[in-house]
This record gives sequence, structure tokens and C-alpha cells, in this order.
Amino acid sequence: MASCPGAASVLAACCFLALCCSPVAISLALPSRPAYSDNARPVLGILAQETDFKNFQKYGSSYIAASYVKFIESAGARVVPIRLNLSDEEYSKVFHSINGILYPGGGVNLKTSEFSRVAKIFYKKALEANERGDYFPVWGTCLGHQLLSYLTSGENLLTWTNTEDFAFPLNFIKDVKESKMFANFPDDLLQEIASEPVTSNFHFWSLSVQNFTNNQKLRSFYKILTTNVHGNVEFISTMEAYAYPVYGVQWHPEKNPFEWKNETGIPHSRTAMKVTYYIADFLVNEARKSNHRFSRKEEETEALIYNFNPVFTGKFSSFEQVYFFD
Ligand SMILES: *[C@@H]1O[C@H](CO)[C@@H](O)[C@H](O)[C@H]1NC(C)=O
Ligand SMILES: *[C@@H]1O[C@H](CO)[C@@H](O)[C@H](O)[C@H]1NC(C)=O
Ligand SMILES: *[C@@H]1O[C@H](CO)[C@@H](O)[C@H](O)[C@H]1NC(C)=O
Repeated sequence: MASCPGAASVLAACCFLALCCSPVAISLALPSRPAYSDNARPVLGILAQETDFKNFQKYGSSYIAASYVKFIESAGARVVPIRLNLSDEEYSKVFHSINGILYPGGGVNLKTSEFSRVAKIFYKKALEANERGDYFPVWGTCLGHQLLSYLTSGENLLTWTNTEDFAFPLNFIKDVKESKMFANFPDDLLQEIASEPVTSNFHFWSLSVQNFTNNQKLRSFYKILTTNVHGNVEFISTMEAYAYPVYGVQWHPEKNPFEWKNETGIPHSRTAMKVTYYIADFLVNEARKSNHRFSRKEEETEALIYNFNPVFTGKFSSFEQVYFFD
């Protein structure tokens, strides 16, 4: 196209001009603007959690399991650890620098932990930002998913299900292809997920469909995408917010490719890998819609997880590798 105006002969110029000025050529030369930004260098925050596990405490006061980092990295984003001891101004600055946040699983109190306190700061900022058209996805996995239900409802509505170390298929709602999260999943993969136990469950507590449905704040905010039944409880395994890019999975898409303990609960089949990949791809593409960025390159460099080394913890924990922070 750039050669059009400089075409040598008049005849050639006419041909080229005709082509250049046709609506097709114009639309090729000027790709239509996406509704949101298409950030090619997305950076996701992962919230650290205080080390409540005794055998972790000598390594640091907070941690992030490396599988969450690899999960994000595998789909083309970089990771910034969100530590628990920053000032409000520092959290504000981090919020405006990253393109989304992931609340991982773990084992701390939903109401009183530092993990919950900092999650609430980002949740509030995310809702406000999204209301002004400033896209900012929030993702919760396992405890993070349960935490979302607490942040949205203000209550702990969980019930004991003892669903520790189980692989389950997902029971999809009918119109799941109309959801945001599963819209791009191939049909055959959805069918496999519905029939094969490919999702990894490590939770003692769950959000039952009953408590969800009885809570006005939850049912007006989230759409249930999948459920599972364990014992006599039907619980929510996947949900997404109707009006915000807020997503929760009770299961662990990051474990399948990257964690090797607890064999019964972590499927490593080819289908399980595809589930992980499509979920990671979805989340990272949500982050691409955010145009937050670090104000300076050096700040970004200092903030990235690359400044830390994971520790091999596979000999004494269910995580193969963990990042620790003082
Ligand atoms: C948080 O902890 C790190 C590591 O100990 C320290 O470098 C940093 O200054 C602390 N930040 C605040 C705001 O206390
Ligand atoms: C509903 O939530 C309450 C806590 O508010 C909990 O004690 C109860 O077990 C839950 N019931 C079900 C069926 O989930
Ligand atoms: C998971 O693996 C860890 C480390 O091997 C072990 O201590 C723990 O008991 C296992 N959990 C379950 C539920 O199998």
C-alpha cells in the first residue's frame, strides 16, 4: 500500500489508486479499532498469601505457588507479585500499572487474613475502574474464587464439602457457549470436559448453589457457568460476573501441567492440558483489553517476578516450586 502514490506509470498509478481507494483496500490498510485496547504486553498481578503452612515459614512471610506464575506465562503475559505490606498509595500505583489480578488458592481466613484485606483493595478499585470503562479483569481460583463470593456478598456463605484431592468433569449450564469464559472453547473440548474428570479440586469448603441462589447480591452479580455435586451438595465450580470482567473457578486450571503431587486430584491427560491452555488464553486475553502500564520501564523491570527465584518445595509440600517474599 505504501508504494501506491509513488507508482511509476500513470496507468499503474490509476490501477493502484483504484485499488487503494476501494473500501476493501481502506479497511485492509486501516484495521478497524478494537472496542478495547489490544495490549500486546500484558502484565498480570498475582496476590501473595501469608505463609500459614509451618514448613514454609522459614522461607518468607508470604508466598506464591510457581504454578500460577507458569500458568499466566504460558499464555503470553508476565507476572508481578502483589505483596501484602504495601501502603495504599503503592497499591494504587500497582493497580494503574498492571492489566488484571489473580487471587490464587491457599489456606487463609476469608475475612481476617492480609490476603483478604489486600484482595478487597484491588476488588474495589477494579469495580470502580470497570464502571468508568477502564477494563481490569479479576480472577479467583479455589480460595480466590471463595474470596470473590465473600467480597461480593460481604458474607462467608461456604459449606463443608471435603472435596480435597478429587478430579471432576464440569456440569455446564445449557448456554455456556454464550458465556465469556467458554465462548472460544472448541465444541469437542467442551464435550470432553463435560464427560471426563479433568478439573482438579482441592477444597474443603464450597459455595453451594442453594446459598448462592438465596443471596441476592451473589445471584445478581454472577452467572453460574458450571456446577459439581459432592456428597449431597451441589456447588458452584465456575462463575463469571454479568457486568464486570470478574471470574471465579473453584478448581485449579494451573495445576494440571505444573503440579505432580496428589496424583488422584491432578489429571495430566492431553484433554486436561487443553483445558489449562484455553483458560490461560482466556484470562491473558482479558488482560490484553486493559491499557494500564508502568509509568517507567525501570519500574516494570523492578516489579516483575523475574526478580525472584522459586524454591523447590516438592519434597515437603504439594507444590513443586514456590516463590517466597519476606
Ligand atoms: C515490604 O517488605 C519488603 C521486604 O521486606 C521491603 O523491602 C519493603 O520496603 C516493605 N514495604 C513496606 C511499605 O513496608
Ligand atoms: C449456607 O451458609 C451458611 C453460612 O452462612 C452455612 O452455615 C451453611 O452450611 C450454608 N448452607 C449451604 C447448603 O450451603
Ligand atoms: C498432597 O501432597 C502432599 C505432599 O506430598 C501431602 O502432604 C498431602 O497429604 C497430599 N494431600 C492429599 C489430599 O493427598
